[in-house]
Amino acid sequence: MGEQARKISVPEFRSAAGTDRRLTMLTAYDFLWAGLFDQAGVDSILVGDSLSMVVQGHSTTLPVTMKQMIYHGEIVARAVQRALVVVDMPFMSYQVSPEQAVRNAGRLIKKTGADAVKLEGGAIQSETIRVIGRADIPVMAHIGMRPQAVRQLGGMGRIQRNVQQLLDDARAAEDAGAFAIILELVPEEAAKLITESLGIPTIGIGAGKHCTGQVLVGPDMLGLNPNFRPRFLKQFGELRAQADKAVRDYVAEVRSGDFPGPEHTHR
Ligand code: KIV
Repeated sequence: MGEQARKISVPEFRSAAGTDRRLTMLTAYDFLWAGLFDQAGVDSILVGDSLSMVVQGHSTTLPVTMKQMIYHGEIVARAVQRALVVVDMPFMSYQVSPEQAVRNAGRLIKKTGADAVKLEGGAIQSETIRVIGRADIPVMAHIGMRPQAVRQLGGMGRIQRNVQQLLDDARAAEDAGAFAIILELVPEEAAKLITESLGIPTIGIGAGKHCTGQVLVGPDMLGLNPNFRPRFLKQFGELRAQADKAVRDYVAEVRSGDFPGPEHTHR
């Protein structure tokens, strides 16, 4: 294996905490994009339960199932050589009991070949994080705005402003054995305090620049979803417009008879 393809392990990812290294993470759900992100140097690929919204077209992350996460997780893990692959535990795959959680975390790791699982919650899931870790399965926690709590929160996109509770949640996740923690829609000053207080990396989304790393939803940062424009999102590409033009050109050229030309034709 060359230097570019050297696999990033959980201990290596974890060791970025407190250093100058800035971790990068993107979500991906299929072979093509996961392979592209990996080869472009992203440190970690998350098979997020955002799959429910981005790929399946639901309005929340709640409907996606274990079977569907396994299907996409296996495809992504097969495409990736270097990045750390993390698969989300879907809604109701871990909330019932720590026993249920460890069984489902085990299924995700065994059937996908991913490196780690992610679940939402800090203090409230500390026993579950501990039990999964006892089975030697690395866990990434996710606090702040928790999309799986959309019904309790009364909507997506609500910023969590209780700094003490955020810090307590982050500490509880670290104490329980989480190797990293996502901070979603956390005020910048709270994210800074948490990052400086923990010995594990913080990965921010809408949490400002003081986190150890950043995560974005792959299709959103590529501009494939141009109507979704929250403040935290930077669109690094405009792929929707390019794809739209390519398809319109194809339709026009087939209709006009310009495609296929002689260079596309076997004789
Ligand atoms: O499911 C997902 O895409 C996520 C990221 C937004 C962190 O959890």
